[in-house]
Amino acid sequence: MNSFETRDNLEEIERQYRFIELLKNVVEHISAEKKRKPTACVETFGCQMNARDSEKISGILLSVGFEIIEDENADLTVYNTCSVRDNANQKVYGRLGRLSTFKKNNPEMKIALCGCMTQEEEVIDKLCQSYGFVDLIFGTHNLYRFAEYLYYVYEGVENIPADIEDVRIKGHTLISHWNETDKICEKLPVDRKYFYKSGVNIMFGCNNFCSYCIVPYVRGRERSREADEIIAEIENLVKDGVIEVMLLGQNVNSYGKNLEDPISFAELLRRVEKIEGLERIRFMTSHPKDLSDELIEVIKNSKKICHHLHLPLQSGSSRILKSMNRVYDKEKYLDLALKIRREIPDISITTDIIVGFPGETKEDVDDTLDVIRKVEFDNAFTFIYSVRTGTPAAKMEQLDEKFVKEQFDRVLSLVQETARKRVELIKGLTLPVLVEEINKQNEEYLTGRLSNNTIVHFKGNPDLIGKIVNVKCNECKGFYYIGEVVE
Ligand code: SAH
Ligand code: SF4
Ligand code: F3S
Repeated sequence: MNSFETRDNLEEIERQYRFIELLKNVVEHISAEKKRKPTACVETFGCQMNARDSEKISGILLSVGFEIIEDENADLTVYNTCSVRDNANQKVYGRLGRLSTFKKNNPEMKIALCGCMTQEEEVIDKLCQSYGFVDLIFGTHNLYRFAEYLYYVYEGVENIPADIEDVRIKGHTLISHWNETDKICEKLPVDRKYFYKSGVNIMFGCNNFCSYCIVPYVRGRERSREADEIIAEIENLVKDGVIEVMLLGQNVNSYGKNLEDPISFAELLRRVEKIEGLERIRFMTSHPKDLSDELIEVIKNSKKICHHLHLPLQSGSSRILKSMNRVYDKEKYLDLALKIRREIPDISITTDIIVGFPGETKEDVDDTLDVIRKVEFDNAFTFIYSVRTGTPAAKMEQLDEKFVKEQFDRVLSLVQETARKRVELIKGLTLPVLVEEINKQNEEYLTGRLSNNTIVHFKGNPDLIGKIVNVKCNECKGFYYIGEVVE
């Protein structure tokens, strides 16, 4: 793939702006009839990348005249799905049942489904068979064509021109998902959920094919955006009031390798650091196999890169890691994590762990526990292995559920124990916090994040939201703190 393919595709962007204009007229008509703006609800089911996609969908909806609401009983509801584990899929099917009753009461309601689940043929078949009330199904690669598809949903799918590629009509449902794309179209409207922070896609897709994981199949091959375009986007965000960015990719450490002028992730960070007015930089996710010494140096010397690294371990057993196709072993992971701890002592290291991968024994789990003890993760997401059809691990012999549950509990309790110990370490310190929102449980409190991603609640004026203030971390509550603002 050459670098031109990774530049924003201006022809496509212009085409979508034409559909945005057409859709505006449709929405104007609806508003005139209803004597109010039609409402739209966009639900995110997946990861940060999925959440960023939802902001793009909301951006288009807002720009054509919808009012965005949180209530799913809306004139248009969009489910942006995730398929990383089976329970994510089941959640969507369950919630669709509820949507169908809303639609019975409001027959003009439109329902759209997109995201990683809708990249899977068997999901589409199931939706067509049992969920025929869904109006629009589109995938991850053609998300930027949302305005175009939605226009035909409102104008009647029978009006869709025959020359639009890869569109199928089943009953009244418009279906379009592509298996692959080399196009990047980032210059469409985006409705940011937070005015002071934003995700920024630096790359799409994944080439790693970990043997349990569906992501490479539903998100396609790895493609990096040109550094200049990323920098320009961040500069614009900063002009618009953003002080923290989260650079997004399935494996940010391999960023830039396939560009015409290759550039390392560490070098990209150096360039982002220079953007005036930007105060905090985060990124997600780091694959241990590609994390360079150069990157550790850049984090260490930076004033803006937050001291938090999400470094998925998946398993501590070298045998299981091999079968997972992770390309590192227990020793390599330990060397790396302990080097990072030595070089940047106040960094928090969080991780993902899968328990119950095919063939995993109690001894393999002992290895995982050993790594948890040695690295002392600041937090860990622990998952029970979930079979994903089409991945190599789905064909391996699966483990007994009861055994897996027992192993999962062993991992979970150690992870919680070490995380609590780590969080305690900052007790009494006064540290900068980015104030994020009013606390949902107790509105007298505000909620913010430390550089190391720990959450702190404290009393304060809501005017502080979006600012960085110093907070004394007084009381450790397990995984978070109660603190007070220090002038
Ligand atoms: N690109 C990221 C992870 C994306 S998916 C990375 O490589 O680190 C987020 C997490 O979901 C993974 O880290 C893994 O722990 C978990 N996961 C992925 N597939 C899974 C499966 N089939 N069963 C259980 N957990 C899974
Ligand atoms: Fe999935 Fe592995 Fe790619 Fe992460 S690196 S998205 S776990 S295949
Ligand atoms: Fe889920 Fe897709 Fe993200 S499968 S975890 S929403 S990349």
